[in-house]
Amino acid sequence: MRSLIDILDFTVEELDELIDLANDIIENPEKYSEKCKGKKLATLFFEPSTRTRLSFEAAMLELGGSVLGFSEANSSSAAKGESVADTAKTISCYADIIAMRHPKEGAPLVAAQNATIPVINAGDGGHNHPTQTLADLLTIKREKGGFDNLTVGFCGDLKFGRTVHSLINALSRYNGLKFVLISPEELKLPSYVKKDVLQQKNIPYEQTTDLESVMPQLDILYMTRVQRERFFNEEDYLRLKDSYILEPRKLRDAKPTLSIMHPLPRVNEISVAVDDDPRACYFKQVLNGKFIRMALILKLLEEAKK
Ligand code: CP
Repeated sequence: MRSLIDILDFTVEELDELIDLANDIIENPEKYSEKCKGKKLATLFFEPSTRTRLSFEAAMLELGGSVLGFSEANSSSAAKGESVADTAKTISCYADIIAMRHPKEGAPLVAAQNATIPVINAGDGGHNHPTQTLADLLTIKREKGGFDNLTVGFCGDLKFGRTVHSLINALSRYNGLKFVLISPEELKLPSYVKKDVLQQKNIPYEQTTDLESVMPQLDILYMTRVQRERFFNEEDYLRLKDSYILEPRKLRDAKPTLSIMHPLPRVNEISVAVDDDPRACYFKQVLNGKFIRMALILKLLEEAKK
């Protein structure tokens, strides 16, 4: 059974096809409005979410299907000690496809190994968030026309930011990219990502704590929230949470073609004054997230028939 647990589960060609399908859905929504009639999506969210859960639900509804699920662990039998494996086997009796978010890294993989229907990882701990990456890729494709030869700056919490890890993995398969990693010392990109992805593939990257000094070279600036829920102590979070606040004056030396991205939710790291800048793309990412999830649901349900 085909699932999506890690962005690398899909080939570059498959990602291109998904992006093409999402673009066709954007152009011709009526063509797809009954494609999932009679199908059910279960959203199993053991952690809070606004965008991911509701965009999955909106995606299935716009495909003519139905949705069921829960939005917190306490309202499921996980609160009584039920395992992820048993939950997956149970939901396989009720639905056709699962989207799961879980605080434990690897939980959606365990679900996929036990379910008889496709499972989509909607975020597992500080590990991966492949459907946010799909939304990011669709946004980059629509904004930049492609993925090659871009200089991409990632700024903020690169240690716990699962969207950063997934997007670096995805972009590492294209040509001529350079990454600029901007973070406080304590929140640097994990060494396993640097070693297994950047160094292994000889991808040029630089690390810095200073956002403004690297701003002029960036084609994309991917801002991230400091992930309070992953910190072991509140004191460290409070000290680091406002390390970077993007304000209009800090964009003075940025390229006119810069794309400012953020997976959202934001806290303080992008001032609302930046929202009116034509280079701000983060609410486009939100909308693109719904369309690419429609494409993903269609792909996985189609493959489940085989
Ligand atoms: N980007 C994202 O995952 O947002 P939510 O936590 O609101 O789903």
